[in-house]
Amino acid sequence: MAGGDPAGTVRPVTQGLYDVIHRRRDVRAEFTGEPVEAEVLRRILTAAHAAPSVGLSQPWDFVLIRSDDVRKAFHEHVRAERDVFAATLTGDAAERFARIKIDGVLESSLSVVITYDPQRGGPAVLGRHAIADAGLYSVCLAIQNLWLAATAEGLGVGWVSFYREDFLRDLLGIPDGIRPVAWLCLGPVSHLEQVPDLERHGWRQRRPVAEAIHEDRWAG
Ligand SMILES: Cc1cc2nc3c(=O)[nH]c(=O)nc-3n(C[C@H](O)[C@H](O)[C@H](O)COP(=O)(O)O)c2cc1C
Repeated sequence: MAGGDPAGTVRPVTQGLYDVIHRRRDVRAEFTGEPVEAEVLRRILTAAHAAPSVGLSQPWDFVLIRSDDVRKAFHEHVRAERDVFAATLTGDAAERFARIKIDGVLESSLSVVITYDPQRGGPAVLGRHAIADAGLYSVCLAIQNLWLAATAEGLGVGWVSFYREDFLRDLLGIPDGIRPVAWLCLGPVSHLEQVPDLERHGWRQRRPVAEAIHEDRWAG
């Protein structure tokens, strides 16, 4: 296969990938609650499972949550943690945060909790001896694959991190030593916003890509 696309030309398949990457949004308010077809869910999870992982450890698991009771219990916890964070804010930030929705736990069709097992593939995980976090990075790549695949399927995903790991471990019966990394809300949406919610609410702006690129050295 030829290398990349020649400069200035983008093949339709390549453009399709870029379109999905830029269309992806973190969704809170736009979930419709309609079901996700089993075959679509299988494709999305298979895409997540195809992620790269340090030493091919594939340290992730996916817990599918449809139970209303579990979702309600988690949502109560998220509300309490939202209050914890809100109590750290004052002035404009407090007012802005009060207007921002931070989850779609009850409105989305289902949730997926992605976990990290540091023992998987051990004890000698190739490539992790100097950087313990490389296992966690691998789980995040599975999450991003899931997020992009869901977006390509026309679904929305919302990452919820307003929780304490011990609470979620207890709620889902996750064994000690395995870390819950993300609670993802998943499902059909009315639409995807073009601008991130936090930007629309004046919480933070995206920075230009040029500011993130350094040449040879940090200051370069
Ligand atoms: C690790 C991680 C945790 C996040 N936790 C939350 C969360 O708890 N609640 C929320 O509303 N958004 C959460 N988000 C979504 C971010 O706010 C969102 O990605 C960011 O504002 C950019 O918007 P976009 O994803 O629509 O481009 C999280 C995103 C990441 C990557």
